[in-house]
Parts: sequence; C-alpha cells; structure tokens
Amino acid sequence: MTENISVLISEAEVHAKISEMAEKISKEYAGKTVHIIGVLKGSIFFMCELAQKLTIPVTMDFMSVSSYGDKTESSGVVKLIKDLDEPIAGKDVILVEDIMDSGRTLSYLIAILKERNPKSLKLITLLDKPERRVTEIQPDMTGFVIPDRFVVGYGLDCAQKYRNLPYIGVIE
Ligand code: IMP
Ligand code: MG
Repeated sequence: MTENISVLISEAEVHAKISEMAEKISKEYAGKTVHIIGVLKGSIFFMCELAQKLTIPVTMDFMSVSSYGDKTESSGVVKLIKDLDEPIAGKDVILVEDIMDSGRTLSYLIAILKERNPKSLKLITLLDKPERRVTEIQPDMTGFVIPDRFVVGYGLDCAQKYRNLPYIGVIE
C-alpha cells in the first residue's frame, strides 16, 4: 500500500528551527560541556543535526526503550532496551526527544535519569502535541507545537517506515 503523505513542516522550516534551538542552547550552556542523550530511534535525525549546530563542547549517549501498551497509547511502563553507556552524575544533561505525546514515556525516563544525579537535566523535543498530555511533564524547549495528528518523517515512523523523510508529514 502506498500512502499519501502531505507536508506539515517543510525541510527548510525544520533546519531553521533546529539552528535556532542550537543557538539558544549554545548561549545558555556557554562555558559548559553539554551531554545530550537521544532516545532511539526517533530522535536520531534531530539529535545529530542539533549536535552539529551546537558551538559548545558536546558529548552524546543514547538509550532505547520500549513502552508497554497498545499500538496507539503508551502505558508509561517502560522497558529499557539499551541503557546509557556512560554515567551522567555531575553532567549537564539534555534529553532529546522527537515528539512528546501523552508524556508517559518521558516522565518515566526523567525519573530514572534524575536518580543518577546529573548536575542539571533538561528536556527538549522537536515536536509537541500538548493536547494529548496526561502527565505533568513539560519540555524545557520545543521546536514546533503541532495539532493532534499522527506525523512521520525526520525520525518519526509509522510501523518503522518514513523515518528518513526530510520533512514532517502527515499520512492522509
Ligand atoms: P508518550 O509521550 O509516552 O505517549 O509516547 C511518545 C512516543 O510515541 C514518541 O516518542 C513516539 O515514538 C511515539 N509517537 C507519538 N506521537 C507520534 C506521532 O505522531 N508519530 C510517530 N510517533 C509518535
Ligand atoms: Mg520515541
């Protein structure tokens, strides 16, 4: 089946927004090294582009989680598939996500990371669907606030497809 995908946020808009976010973070963390943690796999394109655009020293790590629940609703009970390679104690950590939906997965992850005593911990996301939030959690920085539509591209998938699209699209 070939799906029809329409552009919600263009490639140029995504690039411009990530440049803007990188500039803000570089200013905010001036004189520090920032340790960015990507949640696999959705965050990879955003994370890599952001890292390249940061003008401060950067270290990177990844974690991979699977959330229990049905296909459309995460339960918030998260199984760590891949933990971090490095400890985060004493580091200025930024958790990088592709999209915040219910917020359940991230609430769980933030709780795990806080226990490991980072010096600071912030959460940034490329996309946010605040209408869908069921937890208290709010990102410290958001690229685009979007309506409650299922989006693909720029790392986001539908059944593992479309992650490589260079724009954010909606399946019609
Ligand atoms: P939640 O915040 O725990 O509900 O789950 C967030 C995760 O659900 C994200 O990290 C994505 O992997 C996935 N997700 C939520 N909305 C979308 C979407 O519109 N497209 C693709 N994946 C999505
Ligand atoms: Mg994800």
